[in-house]
Amino acid sequence: MPTRRDFLITGGIGLGAVVVGKHAATASPSNRTAPVVISTWPHGIPANEAAWKVLDSGGYALDAVEAGVRVPEGDPEVMSVGYGGLPDEDGVVTLDSCIMDEKWRCGAVAFVRNFKHPVSIARKVMERTRHILLVGEGAEKFARMMGFQEENLLTEAARRRWLRWKANLSEKDNLLPAVEGNHDTIGMVALDTHYRLAGACTTSGLSNKLHGRVGDSPIIGAGLYVDGEVGGASATGVGEAVIRTAGSFLIVEKMREGMSPQEACEEAIRRVMKMNPENPHVAFIALDKEGNIGAATNYDKFQYALYRDGTNSLHTVTPIR
Ligand code: GLY
Repeated sequence: MPTRRDFLITGGIGLGAVVVGKHAATASPSNRTAPVVISTWPHGIPANEAAWKVLDSGGYALDAVEAGVRVPEGDPEVMSVGYGGLPDEDGVVTLDSCIMDEKWRCGAVAFVRNFKHPVSIARKVMERTRHILLVGEGAEKFARMMGFQEENLLTEAARRRWLRWKANLSEKDNLLPAVEGNHDTIGMVALDTHYRLAGACTTSGLSNKLHGRVGDSPIIGAGLYVDGEVGGASATGVGEAVIRTAGSFLIVEKMREGMSPQEACEEAIRRVMKMNPENPHVAFIALDKEGNIGAATNYDKFQYALYRDGTNSLHTVTPIR
């Protein structure tokens, strides 16, 4: 019988402008562009800044995406990711995250409480164990073992929002509908100067979710997928719809078949709309190994942040209807 020690691997792996309208891919295969980093929502702008510091100095895409998404994870003003994230129906903040490199190595944690940076725990799962996904108490025990510090993640602002929601619950609320704007996960994909791809995805998930609910963000293939030979994709929005379509994997497979990142993202949104008659809000971003990007959504307000050619810019995406 394998012991816990058998699953642990010792050591780690070495090593502006606002544009409105549908964004078309801008680099052609004969015009490779690197580094590039793309991420979801306006909180992607400061996240990209942190990622760019790594990329611009010739660093590894995996280090860049981890450094990038740690920014909103640590920002109490971002109420959909990490510290300050809105809690579940019991008033508990539970976090989901995953990370993936160019060689199909990946790690994930789900339903984690009291640790501010689940993406870094996910990376430890990837580098120090033979597993991919740890959840709940097991993930928290692993985090303690890896030296991460526990802290209270429920800010006063998030607690007040939860109290207001709780006070206004009615008998009709058994499906616990999301409050608009409260599942704004950060997904990020980066290409470094050596044309290595990596991605990360991290969230506090749907606000007021049932205790124990896990969304798409820590699910490899749903919230994130990276194939170093093809490209990477990540998702934000209603996680159940993303899981149902295996959205990020679908986009990478469509790129493998020859679609551009933009065409692949649009195909994934059409798949979400077909498979989910209630048309839940979802958005995807993608980046291929040549530096071409794509983004698509059925949201009215989805924006992504793109850092390329030394410029960090926020782009509004026209929704598919
Ligand atoms: N996309 C985040 C979630 O549904 O949990």
